[in-house]
Amino acid sequence: MKTFISALTVLCLISCAGPGAVQQSGPEQYQPSSACRGCHTKIYEQHIQSEHGKTFTNPAFQAQFFRELLPRAAQDAGMKKVASECAACHAPVASRTSKVITGPADLNDPVIHGGVTCDFCHSISGFAGAAPGNGNYVPLPDTDRKLGPFTYNSSWHHRYSALHTQSEFCGICHDQINRYGLEIKSTYTEWKGSPYAAAGIQCQDCHMNLKGYLTAGRPMYEKGQAAEMTLGAAPYRDKLFTHRFPGAHSKTQLASGMLNVSVGTTRISDREVTATILVNNRNTGHKMPSGSADLRLLWLEVVLRPDDGSIPVAAVPAAATGIYDVAGNAAEDKEVLGDAIPAGSRVYRAVFVDAAGAQTLSSYDAVRSIFDNRLNASEIREETYHVTIPAGLRGKAAIEARLKYLPYPESFTRKFGLEKPEPFELASARKVLLLK
Ligand code: HEC
Ligand code: HEC
Ligand code: HEC
Ligand code: HEC
Ligand code: HEC
Repeated sequence: MKTFISALTVLCLISCAGPGAVQQSGPEQYQPSSACRGCHTKIYEQHIQSEHGKTFTNPAFQAQFFRELLPRAAQDAGMKKVASECAACHAPVASRTSKVITGPADLNDPVIHGGVTCDFCHSISGFAGAAPGNGNYVPLPDTDRKLGPFTYNSSWHHRYSALHTQSEFCGICHDQINRYGLEIKSTYTEWKGSPYAAAGIQCQDCHMNLKGYLTAGRPMYEKGQAAEMTLGAAPYRDKLFTHRFPGAHSKTQLASGMLNVSVGTTRISDREVTATILVNNRNTGHKMPSGSADLRLLWLEVVLRPDDGSIPVAAVPAAATGIYDVAGNAAEDKEVLGDAIPAGSRVYRAVFVDAAGAQTLSSYDAVRSIFDNRLNASEIREETYHVTIPAGLRGKAAIEARLKYLPYPESFTRKFGLEKPEPFELASARKVLLLK
C-alpha cells in the first residue's frame, strides 16, 4: 500500500473539515490515544483492537481511498471533494487539523494512525443542523475537559455530555448520504424507526455493554474503575461502557446467536418437501446487514440432507421479489458475488447502481438503490423453500438451513488484491423428516 501514499494524498487530507462542521477560533489540538493509555489502560486496550482504532488503517478503506479515489481525484475536482469527505469519518483528527500526510512514515503518526481516536470522540460537543449524519460533528477539543457520561463533577477532566449516552452521537458517522443524495448508510435512521428506539435502547446499550449485545433483552454492563492509576484511585462504578464496539468484523458478535434461524412447518407431498424457515433479527437494533449496505451480504442456504449419506439436494425459495434476492438470477451476479453464495440461495442485500445503470460496490458512485430486501430491525422473516425428493429416496432426511455472512464479495477483494474473505456461518438449524 505504501506506494499509494504519494503527493496526491496531500491534496486530500488537507482542507477536509466535515460537511457542515463549525470552525472554532484558533487551531484545534487533539491528544493522541497513547496519552490516555497510562490511566485508562483497559479502555485503551479495547479501543486499539476495535474497528474505531482502525478506521484509517483498515485495508478495505485504504484500497478504495488510495487506489481508486485519489487517482480519480487527480483528474476530477468533484472526486477531490469526495475523497476529502472520507477523512471526516475515517481520519477525523487529520481532517480537522489539516494534518498533511506526506509519506508512508506519517502513517506511524499516532494521531492519524489512530483513526477515530479517544480524544476525538470525547471532544464531540454536538452536531450541526437538525439531524446527525455525514460527519456533521461540532468538536471542542480541550486538554483539561473530556466529554463523557458521568453526571457528577470531580477534579478529573469531567464534562457531562448527554449526547454521548444517545444514539445521535453514533448517527453523526453511521448515517451517510453521498453526493448524489443517495442514503448509503442508514444505521441510525433504521434504529430510529425500530422498536428499540421506542423502548429507549441506544446503540451504546448493545455495542458498549460487556457482551456487545443484549442478554435476555437487557444490557449487561462492565463494572469497575474507569481509570487505573498509580496515584489516587478512581471510584468503583456499577456501569461502565466497553470500547470494543463489536460489529460485523467481530466473529464473536456474529457467532453470538443474535441472528438466528429455525425450521418451522414442513409439508411432504408427492415428491416434494415444502419447508418454512424463520430468519430472526429480533435482537438487532437496525437492519441486517446494516452500515455499508453496498458491500455486505447475508444469505440463507437450505438443503435436504438424506440420512444415508447421499448428496444433499438444494432447496429453492418459493417466491422471488425480484432477480436480486435469489443468488444467480441476476445476470451480473456471477461477476459481483463470485462463487461464495450457492445459486438459488435467498440473499438479503441492497443493490446500488451507478450513473450508467451498472451495479456498483463503490458507494461514492452510486446514484440509486434498485433493490433492498435486508432484514428489518427486530423482524422475523418467514421464507418458504421447496425441494424435490430424489427418485427412490426413502427413510430419514433432514431439512438444514444455514445463515451466512460475507463482509464484502470476492469481486471487491479481487479488484484491490485484498485477502479473500471466507463466508461466516451465523446460525443453523435442522429438522428431521421421514420420507415414505
Ligand atoms: C459519515 C461518515 C463516513 C464517511 C464520510 C465515509 N465513511 Fe466509510 N464508513 C463509515 C462507517 C460508519 C463505516 C462502518 C459501517 C459498517 O460497519 O458497515 C464505514 C465503512 C467503510 C468501509 C468498509 C470497511 C470494512 O472493512 O468493512 C469502506 C471500504 C469505507 N467505509 C470507505 C470509505 C470511503 C472510500 C469514503 C469516502 C468516499 C468513506 N468511507 C466515507 C463512515 C463513513
Ligand atoms: C492521569 C490519569 C488520566 C489520564 C492520562 C487520562 N484520564 Fe480520563 N479520567 C481519569 C480519571 C481518574 C477519571 C474519572 C473516573 C471516574 O470518575 O470514574 C477520568 C475520566 C474520563 C472521562 C469521563 C468523563 C465524564 O465526564 O464522563 C473521559 C471521557 C476521559 N477520562 C477521557 C480521557 C481521554 C480521552 C484521555 C486521553 C486524551 C484521558 N482521559 C486521559 C484519569 C485520566
Ligand atoms: C467512537 C467514539 C469513542 C471512542 C473512539 C472512545 N470512546 Fe470513550 N466513550 C464513548 C461513549 C459514547 C461513552 C459513553 C457511553 C454511554 O454513556 O452511553 C464513552 C465512555 C467513556 C468513559 C467513561 C467510563 C466508561 O467506561 O463508561 C471513559 C473514561 C472513556 N470513554 C475513555 C475513552 C478512552 C480513554 C478512549 C480511547 C482509549 C475512548 N474512550 C475512546 C465513545 C468513545
Ligand atoms: C467520528 C465518527 C464515528 C463515530 C462518532 C462513531 N463511529 Fe462507529 N465507526 C466509524 C467508522 C469510520 C467505522 C468503520 C471502521 C472500519 O471498518 O474501518 C466504524 C465502525 C463501527 C463498528 C464496527 C462495525 C463492523 O463492521 O464491525 C461499530 C459496531 C460501530 N462503529 C458502532 C458505533 C457506535 C455504537 C457509536 C456511538 C457510540 C459509534 N460507532 C460512533 C466512525 C464512527
Ligand atoms: C438491540 C441491540 C442493538 C442496537 C440498539 C444497535 N445494534 Fe448494531 N448490531 C447489533 C447486533 C446484534 C449486530 C450484529 C448482528 C449479529 O451478528 O448477530 C449489530 C451490528 C452492527 C453493525 C455491523 C452491521 C453489518 O451489517 O455489518 C454496525 C455498524 C452497528 N451494529 C452499528 C450500530 C449503531 C450505530 C447503532 C445505533 C444507531 C446500533 N448498531 C444499534 C445490535 C444492536
